[in-house]
Amino acid sequence: MPIDAHIANWPGWVERCAEVLRSNQIVSGGHRYTRPAPHVYEQQWLWDSCFHAIAYRHFDAGMARDELRALMAHQVGAGADAGMIPHMAYWDGTGEALWGHAERSIITQPPLIAVAAWLVYDSTGDDDFLRELYPGLLAYHDWFERRRDLNGDGLVAIIHPWESGWDASPRWDAAMGLHLPSDEDSKQARHGLVTTLRAHDCDARTLRDAGSFCVYPVDFNAIRAYDLLMLSKIAAVIGADDLHPRYERVRDAVVGAFAPHGSDINAADGKPTHIESAAQFVLALAADAFPLDALRADRFWPRYPVPTTPSDAPNYDGGHYWRGNVWLAVNWLIYTALRVHHQPETARELATRSLDLVDATGFYEYFNPQTGAGYGPSQQSWSTIVLDMLATEHEPG
Ligand code: GLC
Repeated sequence: MPIDAHIANWPGWVERCAEVLRSNQIVSGGHRYTRPAPHVYEQQWLWDSCFHAIAYRHFDAGMARDELRALMAHQVGAGADAGMIPHMAYWDGTGEALWGHAERSIITQPPLIAVAAWLVYDSTGDDDFLRELYPGLLAYHDWFERRRDLNGDGLVAIIHPWESGWDASPRWDAAMGLHLPSDEDSKQARHGLVTTLRAHDCDARTLRDAGSFCVYPVDFNAIRAYDLLMLSKIAAVIGADDLHPRYERVRDAVVGAFAPHGSDINAADGKPTHIESAAQFVLALAADAFPLDALRADRFWPRYPVPTTPSDAPNYDGGHYWRGNVWLAVNWLIYTALRVHHQPETARELATRSLDLVDATGFYEYFNPQTGAGYGPSQQSWSTIVLDMLATEHEPG
């Protein structure tokens, strides 16, 4: 369907997205947030909530702000990990058995909160909200520098695949000691790794030296650079210290390390993994150019782009969790990178096909790139992120 038909149906899209998000909302502990999907994902997840806020801003700015406030409420206050924002907040207090903390996990997720806060501000002009969030956002980036920038070179490592948000991606097989694993084997390995993290107090340097999973992900690092750019814009609006030099340093480090190959880097030996994935396109959030030819090749541009693993890779599987499906949150990141690089036609095409996919199938968690079949919960909150792409196409300025 041409984008104009979707634009003409803007009220219908708002209604559909609002319905999904509102039915997944929950109030707990004096805060309200949106569950990624009731029953399956009851807790609050970090990057999901960022995507929720970016969608909410188009019809419920109050909820967009509350979603991010709830996220900040579980920021770690003391100890070695002070400043970290956990990838899962357990508002029901059931996290103890897995994490040793009732209220939160002990790892993080892609840092997109300043990006989301900036976009909420862009819609509302509410600079008090930026003032409210700023100290916590700054402390979060300080935490990254202290705990995850292992060599002080501007790159940050993750210590668990869950931190990437791409849980079972082939990107992590080798570093997890797996070879073409079944869904169950891969899941068990991720759960087992939590025990190791707890034994090492989540200290990334010790974990790296012990041979545990420790990787510099290409997209995570680009997202962090982009988040710092947005934080520097926030700082400028509220009159805080200039963060632009800090952003530039990180951006230069990210581009220097990843642009030559576009893959993740093993922290143990500093070498690229050379496992190709759609994460290379997210690098464009920080890089000087967008690898457009690579994106538009058939292997990454089937009927419903963008499969997270290229379709000709030996470990590609469009029907299995994170092995090559389409995730609309990843599409939004690539869409945003395309717009940063002044590629409006391809951005528009990606927005159109993402909207077509939801139209054909619904707000599933993830999708088959060839057939459009939906997998996981059918009312997944973050799939409403297509609304933001539509809004941008609506008012391309
Ligand atoms: C899955 C995804 C992760 C997401 C979470 C909640 O674990 O892999 O990225 O944050 O679900 O939707």
